[in-house]
Amino acid sequence: MKTSVICLFLLVSFVLSQEEPEPAKPVWPLKFSQDFIETFYGSTNHTSVGGYYYDYTTYSTRLIRSNGKYDQTCNGYKQYNETNHVCEQLIVGENRFNYYPDDNDCCWCCNEQQGCGALKPHWLQKSTFQGKTTLYGQEAYQWLIVELPNIRNIVWETTEENPLERTLLKIQRGSYDEVFLAETRRLDDFNPITVPSVCDVNNICPRGLCQYFREQAANMTAAHGHAHSH
Ligand SMILES: *[C@@H]1O[C@H](CO)[C@@H](O)[C@H](O)[C@H]1NC(C)=O
Ligand SMILES: *[C@@H]1O[C@H](CO)[C@@H](O)[C@H](O)[C@H]1NC(C)=O
Ligand SMILES: *[C@@H]1O[C@H](CO)[C@@H](O)[C@H](O)[C@H]1NC(C)=O
Repeated sequence: MKTSVICLFLLVSFVLSQEEPEPAKPVWPLKFSQDFIETFYGSTNHTSVGGYYYDYTTYSTRLIRSNGKYDQTCNGYKQYNETNHVCEQLIVGENRFNYYPDDNDCCWCCNEQQGCGALKPHWLQKSTFQGKTTLYGQEAYQWLIVELPNIRNIVWETTEENPLERTLLKIQRGSYDEVFLAETRRLDDFNPITVPSVCDVNNICPRGLCQYFREQAANMTAAHGHAHSH
């Protein structure tokens, strides 16, 4: 009797120790692009489509969406909180801009010192693994990362062992999410991201998240004597 209890105990510990180890944290390739479908949730839901172009070889990012009216970054300039409009968020080098191609208009959002530079390929190293799940019939790893002040980002990706071979599937952030279409993922086949000549760092986006990021950075500087960037 005693022996069989011990055997059972050993068997259970063996089975538990065989549990899959946690996968390696996500790492983004230095350059990729992918299209997405985005939904802003509220008393009514609003959906738009977009593309994300990431090029860390030049510290640049282009996020283009078919309608920026409900996006807290895009709608913080002129009448763009009231009109449907195409919006591009451009990060090139140390500056982030909002560009409105329909009107060839542009405003300066914030800079790298204020936490607005391009995401690093390893930005998800501090995320927490939330398990393996199924998304649109596909196996997916789920990761949580909390940004200041308290915005939960959940990121889903495919489950290849090598993080660089995984494909981004979805990002959920605050009250919106972006479903990234796996088939549209391309590595290395887009032109360098540039800032249109109309963009000027002296023309500041006055409201919304751009203002929030600048103010937050200024408050941190005041509190600690230097700015943090994340
Ligand atoms: C918005 O989407 C959510 C999640 O899919 C859904 O539960 C909710 O009913 C939708 N709201 C409206 C107003 O359609
Ligand atoms: C758009 O922003 C302006 C300026 O802050 C504000 O007066 C207006 O009420 C806003 N419109 C909507 C629909 O929120
Ligand atoms: C910055 O500090 C001011 C004054 O304390 C405060 O009203 C404001 O909400 C703070 N802004 C941010 C983004 O933290």
